Amino acid sequence: GPGPGSGPAVVLIGPPGSGKSTVGALLAERLGTGYRDTDSDIERIAGKPIPEIFFEDGEPRFRALERQAVRDAVAEHPGVLSLGGGAIMDEETRKLLTGLPVVFLDVGLADAVKRVGLDAPRPLLAVNPRQQWRALMEQRRPLYTEAARAVVTTDGRSPEDVAEAVLDAL
Ligand code: S3P
Repeated sequence: GPGPGSGPAVVLIGPPGSGKSTVGALLAERLGTGYRDTDSDIERIAGKPIPEIFFEDGEPRFRALERQAVRDAVAEHPGVLSLGGGAIMDEETRKLLTGLPVVFLDVGLADAVKRVGLDAPRPLLAVNPRQQWRALMEQRRPLYTEAARAVVTTDGRSPEDVAEAVLDAL
């Protein structure tokens, strides 16, 4: 149950463009708790933006930083937590999520593209965003599903509506 040391109230997972940040911030407001996302934690710890970590240090290094960021956040943060879209690719990270109230925000390509746009640079979507997103989702879908306690479909829904569905699902 909720309480100090028992982990985040909600953990949001899902691909880029699933609305994790927007819905996460809204959920935190609703629940009266803090919001934290591991992408921001990683940038703070590394002292540089995520694309620079990827290009200068490589994806394996990024995943290692992410693993540590997830470990710390799960231990320290009692509120709403969002993970980067690829966090579930790492086996150790997946283990850290065992038993937590993890919700997979599911989304189709069309809505993901609408949300993500091309403004925020994502190293894994830099060449051909649509095709790369599709490939990532195909590879990751089983991992998102396996890691999640509940799946919430976000296509065509407002952040408020999705936040409500997340609360209902838990
Ligand atoms: C990634 C998603 C990004 C970020 C990094 C890698 C991925 O987070 O962690 O660019 O592998 O899908 P968002 O899901 O917040 O875009």
